[in-house]
Amino acid sequence: LQVELAQLKHLSTRLVRGWTHLERQKGGIGLRGPGESQLETDRRLIRVRIRLLEARLERSVKQRINSRRNRSETPTVALVGYTNSGKSTLFNALTESEVFAADLLFATLDSTLRRLELPDSEPVILVDTVGFVRRLPHALVAAFRSTLEEVRSASLLLHVVDSSRTDERQMMMAQVNGVLDDIGAGDIPQIEVMNKIDLTDHAPAHPAGNGGVERVWLSAHSGSGVDLLRSAVGQRFAASRMRKTLHLPRCDGQLRAGVFRLGQVRHEHFDADGAWQVEFDIGRGELARLAPLLAAADTDTLPTSAITVEQ
Ligand code: GTP
Repeated sequence: LQVELAQLKHLSTRLVRGWTHLERQKGGIGLRGPGESQLETDRRLIRVRIRLLEARLERSVKQRINSRRNRSETPTVALVGYTNSGKSTLFNALTESEVFAADLLFATLDSTLRRLELPDSEPVILVDTVGFVRRLPHALVAAFRSTLEEVRSASLLLHVVDSSRTDERQMMMAQVNGVLDDIGAGDIPQIEVMNKIDLTDHAPAHPAGNGGVERVWLSAHSGSGVDLLRSAVGQRFAASRMRKTLHLPRCDGQLRAGVFRLGQVRHEHFDADGAWQVEFDIGRGELARLAPLLAAADTDTLPTSAITVEQ
């Protein structure tokens, strides 16, 4: 929808002649009013089509906003990069193992959104986005609004770079960073993914960062180095994960179910009096979702100090 709309808007501004193929579609009553030239008919048909597309797009944007709201607790990682840098190939390489797991939450939400399992961390949602090109026209930026909104709400960006294009890659990276600034995503943390190392003699690597930008060298095509990226992303999110211990005089069924659903339980213990102790790892977003269950549990016996943070 976005692409067709952008094309039509582009064409309608330069329409002079040559839309004769539209003529074949006419034939119904009222398609051409008296005195209306072929050019006017063409323009009108395009306007009608544009309005239809805009309405459909508006609906799909609303759907995306709703689904984004539903998954707002789950962090999003967006693949961004210059066109042809290998984003879609990397998207598939990173999520390959889950493609067939259709019953997973978010697995079938959208062809450009997939759940990404990470070592040592809760899963995140990976988003593929439209390729950035030099001087992205403003009409196009507007047309790709919903994809770009996914970028803006991401917690981490994987900036995919075709590392084999040594002469142009700095320019391409600067272009991408320029667009990110334009759409208000310039300050989201990035990992630079130097892709296509199979075309160069670079080995897969994740050099220890020296305070600068984190970089991973890999080939999405051959798969070498993809695991390094997965761990690098996992480390980022593991940092936002906490270990909590809960001591309660007695077990609250709903709270216990919530702890098991949202966290990763390390240890659980009931003593002879029915007191409950559980130790679990949980992300910040999940902890926020657990909060109402904590509040709903018997608050008299649950001072906030009942939750203690451990190392
Ligand atoms: P846009 O949708 O235009 O933004 O492209 P993209 O960034 O999604 O790139 P895509 O994944 O479509 O890959 C572009 C081309 O690069 C394809 O022909 C891929 O097969 C190729 N490609 C991607 N990754 C690698 C890689 O690691 N090595 C090699 N040799 N080719 C790759």
